[in-house]
Amino acid sequence: MPSLSVFGAQWGDEGKGKLIDLLSGSEADVVVRYQGGANAGHTVVVGAEKYVLHLIPSGILHPEKLNVIGNGVAVDPFKFLEEVEGLRARGVAVDGTNLRLSANAHVIFEHHRRLDQLSEKWRGEGRIGTTGRGIGPCYADKAARTGLRVGDLLDPEHCRVRLKAALAEKNALFEHVHHEAPLELETQLDRYVALGHRLEPFVGDTGAQVRAAYRAKKRILFEGAQGAMLDIDAGTYPFVTSSNTGTNGISAGASFPPRWIDRAIGIAKAYATRVGEGPFPTELENEIGARIREQGNEYGSTTGRPRRCGWLDAVALRYALEISGADGWVVTNLDVLTGLDTIQAAVGYRAGGREVRDWPGGMADFDALEPVYKSHPGWTEDITRVRRFADLPKSARAYVEWLEHEVGVPIVMLSVGPEREQVIPRGKFLSLAQVMSRGTGA
Ligand code: IMP
Repeated sequence: MPSLSVFGAQWGDEGKGKLIDLLSGSEADVVVRYQGGANAGHTVVVGAEKYVLHLIPSGILHPEKLNVIGNGVAVDPFKFLEEVEGLRARGVAVDGTNLRLSANAHVIFEHHRRLDQLSEKWRGEGRIGTTGRGIGPCYADKAARTGLRVGDLLDPEHCRVRLKAALAEKNALFEHVHHEAPLELETQLDRYVALGHRLEPFVGDTGAQVRAAYRAKKRILFEGAQGAMLDIDAGTYPFVTSSNTGTNGISAGASFPPRWIDRAIGIAKAYATRVGEGPFPTELENEIGARIREQGNEYGSTTGRPRRCGWLDAVALRYALEISGADGWVVTNLDVLTGLDTIQAAVGYRAGGREVRDWPGGMADFDALEPVYKSHPGWTEDITRVRRFADLPKSARAYVEWLEHEVGVPIVMLSVGPEREQVIPRGKFLSLAQVMSRGTGA
């Protein structure tokens, strides 16, 4: 049975939550997060209810599904428990049987959150515009081998030794570099050991569990957070997050063999957005950008920040789909473009007097890229109730068909609104179900 990677193919906020929720209802038994942390904000609308999930996989809204937070996720225990309680208060069943947390996932501590915010001040003009959730400092400690993992919280004596060493270094930074008050070891220790106690029912060897599920022919869905252009290796470094966001992050972050990843689907909006700082060649700092922001409600679901909006960048998208080996992709928010006279999409860039058609991977100065656009006629009809591709206005169909051709990867679904049922499957090349079942060799 197949495993499927669903990942963001732009700068995050592509609508992954909705698709994962949809797929977990019909096509998956296990939903796995493998990177990022509570910097993500996956919005799922079910009838009149809106859920914003930060850390817990979007499959949690379907009973009987197993949801897994893998070892590659940076886990803030406060946020984890807050989300569990929030879901329970709304009648969603969450316990150690349908939600598992890797003992090897790194823990975000208060000192990580503080450092995240302080480092941003020090970066000045070069600030990244992080979510302030402690993601970067936590992953930095992981790489420096000074971090603590979820399993460490379950052993108070071991936790004391590790936290004491970590805090000694961090407190020196707080006091002597940032001129801030130090954090007190006993207070932090008590707090995190108590949190560890509450985490215990969820904790286990999630890698072994997911691999066993795959061997038992369960359908595994890997839920990416953020997007390809925020990937620490492939994205617009240094304006990126601190993890591998695409299919590339699954193997390490979920302890899952790369050769067992059968299929990959990218998600991209019909336009582009970015939150925080960093290059964004197709950004529209004009009334069209403002209009897209309002129509698409483009405000961060984690921080509430207005998102920067622009035209779809077919060059960046083709690159993003290629590095994750996408078999197909999904266009979301097509309805947001309704009412625009002309729709544009970047098909190349001009830089240093030359025109390029491919993403300039080795380039340092992404700000120097000037997009080369192709224009398309817009449409005025309301498309939010359309459920068949053939029923879309002619110019919307033409835009989608052109996009598919330009990007060179089949579009398997379109989304025309936030609700679960506001989707248009596309059977011209591959339906989503076919993408999944091809993994069986059927
Ligand atoms: P960090 O992940 O909090 O360190 O933030 C690094 C960059 O990634 C910033 O530009 C954030 O705005 C961006 N970012 C992090 N998570 C998300 C997300 O879920 N959606 C969109 N942007 C994100």
